[in-house]
Amino acid sequence: MNATPEDIARAAALLRAGELVALPTETVYGLGADASNAQAVAKIFAAKGRPADHPLIVHLADADGIVEWAREIPKEAIALARAFWPGPLTMILKKEADVSDLLTGGQDTVGLRVPDHPVALALLRAFNGGIAAPSANRFGRISPTTAAHVAEELGESVALILDGGACQVGIESTILDLSRGEPVILRPGMIGADAIAAVIGRRPRLPQHAENAPRVSGALAAHYAPRTAMRMASRAELLDPIDPTGEHAVLSHSVESPGDQPGPWIVSGPDVAHFAHDLYANLRALDASGAQLILVEELPPDAAWDAVRDRLGRAVVGSGGE
Ligand code: TXA
Ligand code: MG
Repeated sequence: MNATPEDIARAAALLRAGELVALPTETVYGLGADASNAQAVAKIFAAKGRPADHPLIVHLADADGIVEWAREIPKEAIALARAFWPGPLTMILKKEADVSDLLTGGQDTVGLRVPDHPVALALLRAFNGGIAAPSANRFGRISPTTAAHVAEELGESVALILDGGACQVGIESTILDLSRGEPVILRPGMIGADAIAAVIGRRPRLPQHAENAPRVSGALAAHYAPRTAMRMASRAELLDPIDPTGEHAVLSHSVESPGDQPGPWIVSGPDVAHFAHDLYANLRALDASGAQLILVEELPPDAAWDAVRDRLGRAVVGSGGE
């Protein structure tokens, strides 16, 4: 972890001056701007190439900040903040009147989260305000989980990249909409429906088709996508000698390379935490390997893998495009 107290002070000053700063969180790296400065927020959309109707998450130093951004805050939000913050849960709440439309994509709600990363928390405390931050990738591409990935994605358009090492969780936060009376998971993450139900006493539902689009870009059918074509493959397929030409790359959670496989073969797992932690770095490496096709082993069916399944499904749909 390389960010020093001086780096953090500089980053806070840059945010105050309306510049963009990339910051590590426990999920993925974020592209941060002063959430209360509309011009700074506009720079995020320009840097990412992100459509204006996709709202940004506001990151806070602690749960006390909720009242500055949201109104009509349900008791369930307070209970969830106590249980999971700092941590990989974003809550969608009705927004305070003065929260800018630019930030919320013109909606009446705002997404809030307290990230669980010492560098992010130190920056939030030094800055002493909300930091708007989407994942620090170009729109539709693989989210960055190291400072080097951020430099590859957005190097030119960010004033400073704070290095906080590799992200612990590795995939984006769970997004829970609490603004409609009934809790709805808009984007699955490593905090699952069961864990949420254990805190609030009712099970959040998953959105109906298209209910959350385009509000959650992660809900677009194609997202998180490598440039190389990609598809799921069964365990049986991977146990066969599939690729004499060396044009295939493999990402598996359970099957070792047969040895005579000439293309790159990554085994990641067997547990989901490990698989998620390395997922985006692995997709980047396989994408850069020169392979013509990335084969990903079909995932275990249990709910613990749902968030990873969601990301891979969208990556498959988006893969191979330019
Ligand atoms: O783990 C994360 O959530 C990372 C780190 C940096 O915190 N951030 C992240 O941001 O994934 P982003 O912008 O890449 O994805 C956030 C998603 C977007 O799809 C956005 O549309 C949705 O959250 N979102 C934000 N505010 C919303 C709102 N008010 N209503 C519905 N969806 C919202
Ligand atoms: Mg994103």
